[in-house]
Amino acid sequence: MKGVLLAGGTGSRLQPLTSILNKHLLPVGRYPMIYWPIMKLKDAGVKEILIVTNKEHLTSFKKVLGIGKDFGVNLYYQIQNNKGAGIGDALLMAKDFIQQGKFIVILGDNLFEDSLVSYLEAFRKQKAGARVILKEVKNPRRYGVPELDILNRKILSITEKPNIPMSTYCVTGVYMYDQQVFNLIEHTNPSSRNELEITDVNNMFVGQNLLEFDILNGWWIDAGTHESLYKANQLVYGKELKEGEH
Ligand code: G1P
Repeated sequence: MKGVLLAGGTGSRLQPLTSILNKHLLPVGRYPMIYWPIMKLKDAGVKEILIVTNKEHLTSFKKVLGIGKDFGVNLYYQIQNNKGAGIGDALLMAKDFIQQGKFIVILGDNLFEDSLVSYLEAFRKQKAGARVILKEVKNPRRYGVPELDILNRKILSITEKPNIPMSTYCVTGVYMYDQQVFNLIEHTNPSSRNELEITDVNNMFVGQNLLEFDILNGWWIDAGTHESLYKANQLVYGKELKEGEH
């Protein structure tokens, strides 16, 4: 299975740091943020990885990551022409790279503890459609929030940044899709924040009864704000210190 890492965006919530550096290259622990999802993919056997980023940051990414030799993976790069046009738009850029079959997408600012192995295994067994990974969070309003039918293990709908969340879970930035996703993205329209929303795409899969989910066991964080970037560092360093790597 191939992997896609989305590492574009404007990084507006991390200004002024992001006026000189792409968000996903900011330090988390001793590495740039993007190292962590790359390692998660590698550890789960995903070794063909496309990084989608902005034109202005491409050189920095190539300088730090190269073709992936240090990681034992093959890295490829794609520019997102419409900076800030959303996850849907960024994902469309991966169509030629994916070509066929199922694949996994991770938002480059999503860091988490769990191994991806069991989730990928479940998706391999899934006939078709998409699979998302949920996490219980304190403030679901910041995220895409599912309405759940726990008994039947179903997502009934997802709302992006709701005022009144329908559950205490968020849809994390770890998504698994089959080829249909590209067609569905093309049928979405820009949202009020002028982005092609991945939540709209996921709701289309819900409508076809083709969206399944897992729930993360370990910690998860979207490191896209100053506070959460600080917390991500604490989590990662905490783990490293415990493992005696210092
Ligand atoms: C995006 C998605 C949202 C998801 C979140 C996870 O939000 O739109 O559904 O819960 O990532 O990190 P954004 O970071 O674009 O606000």
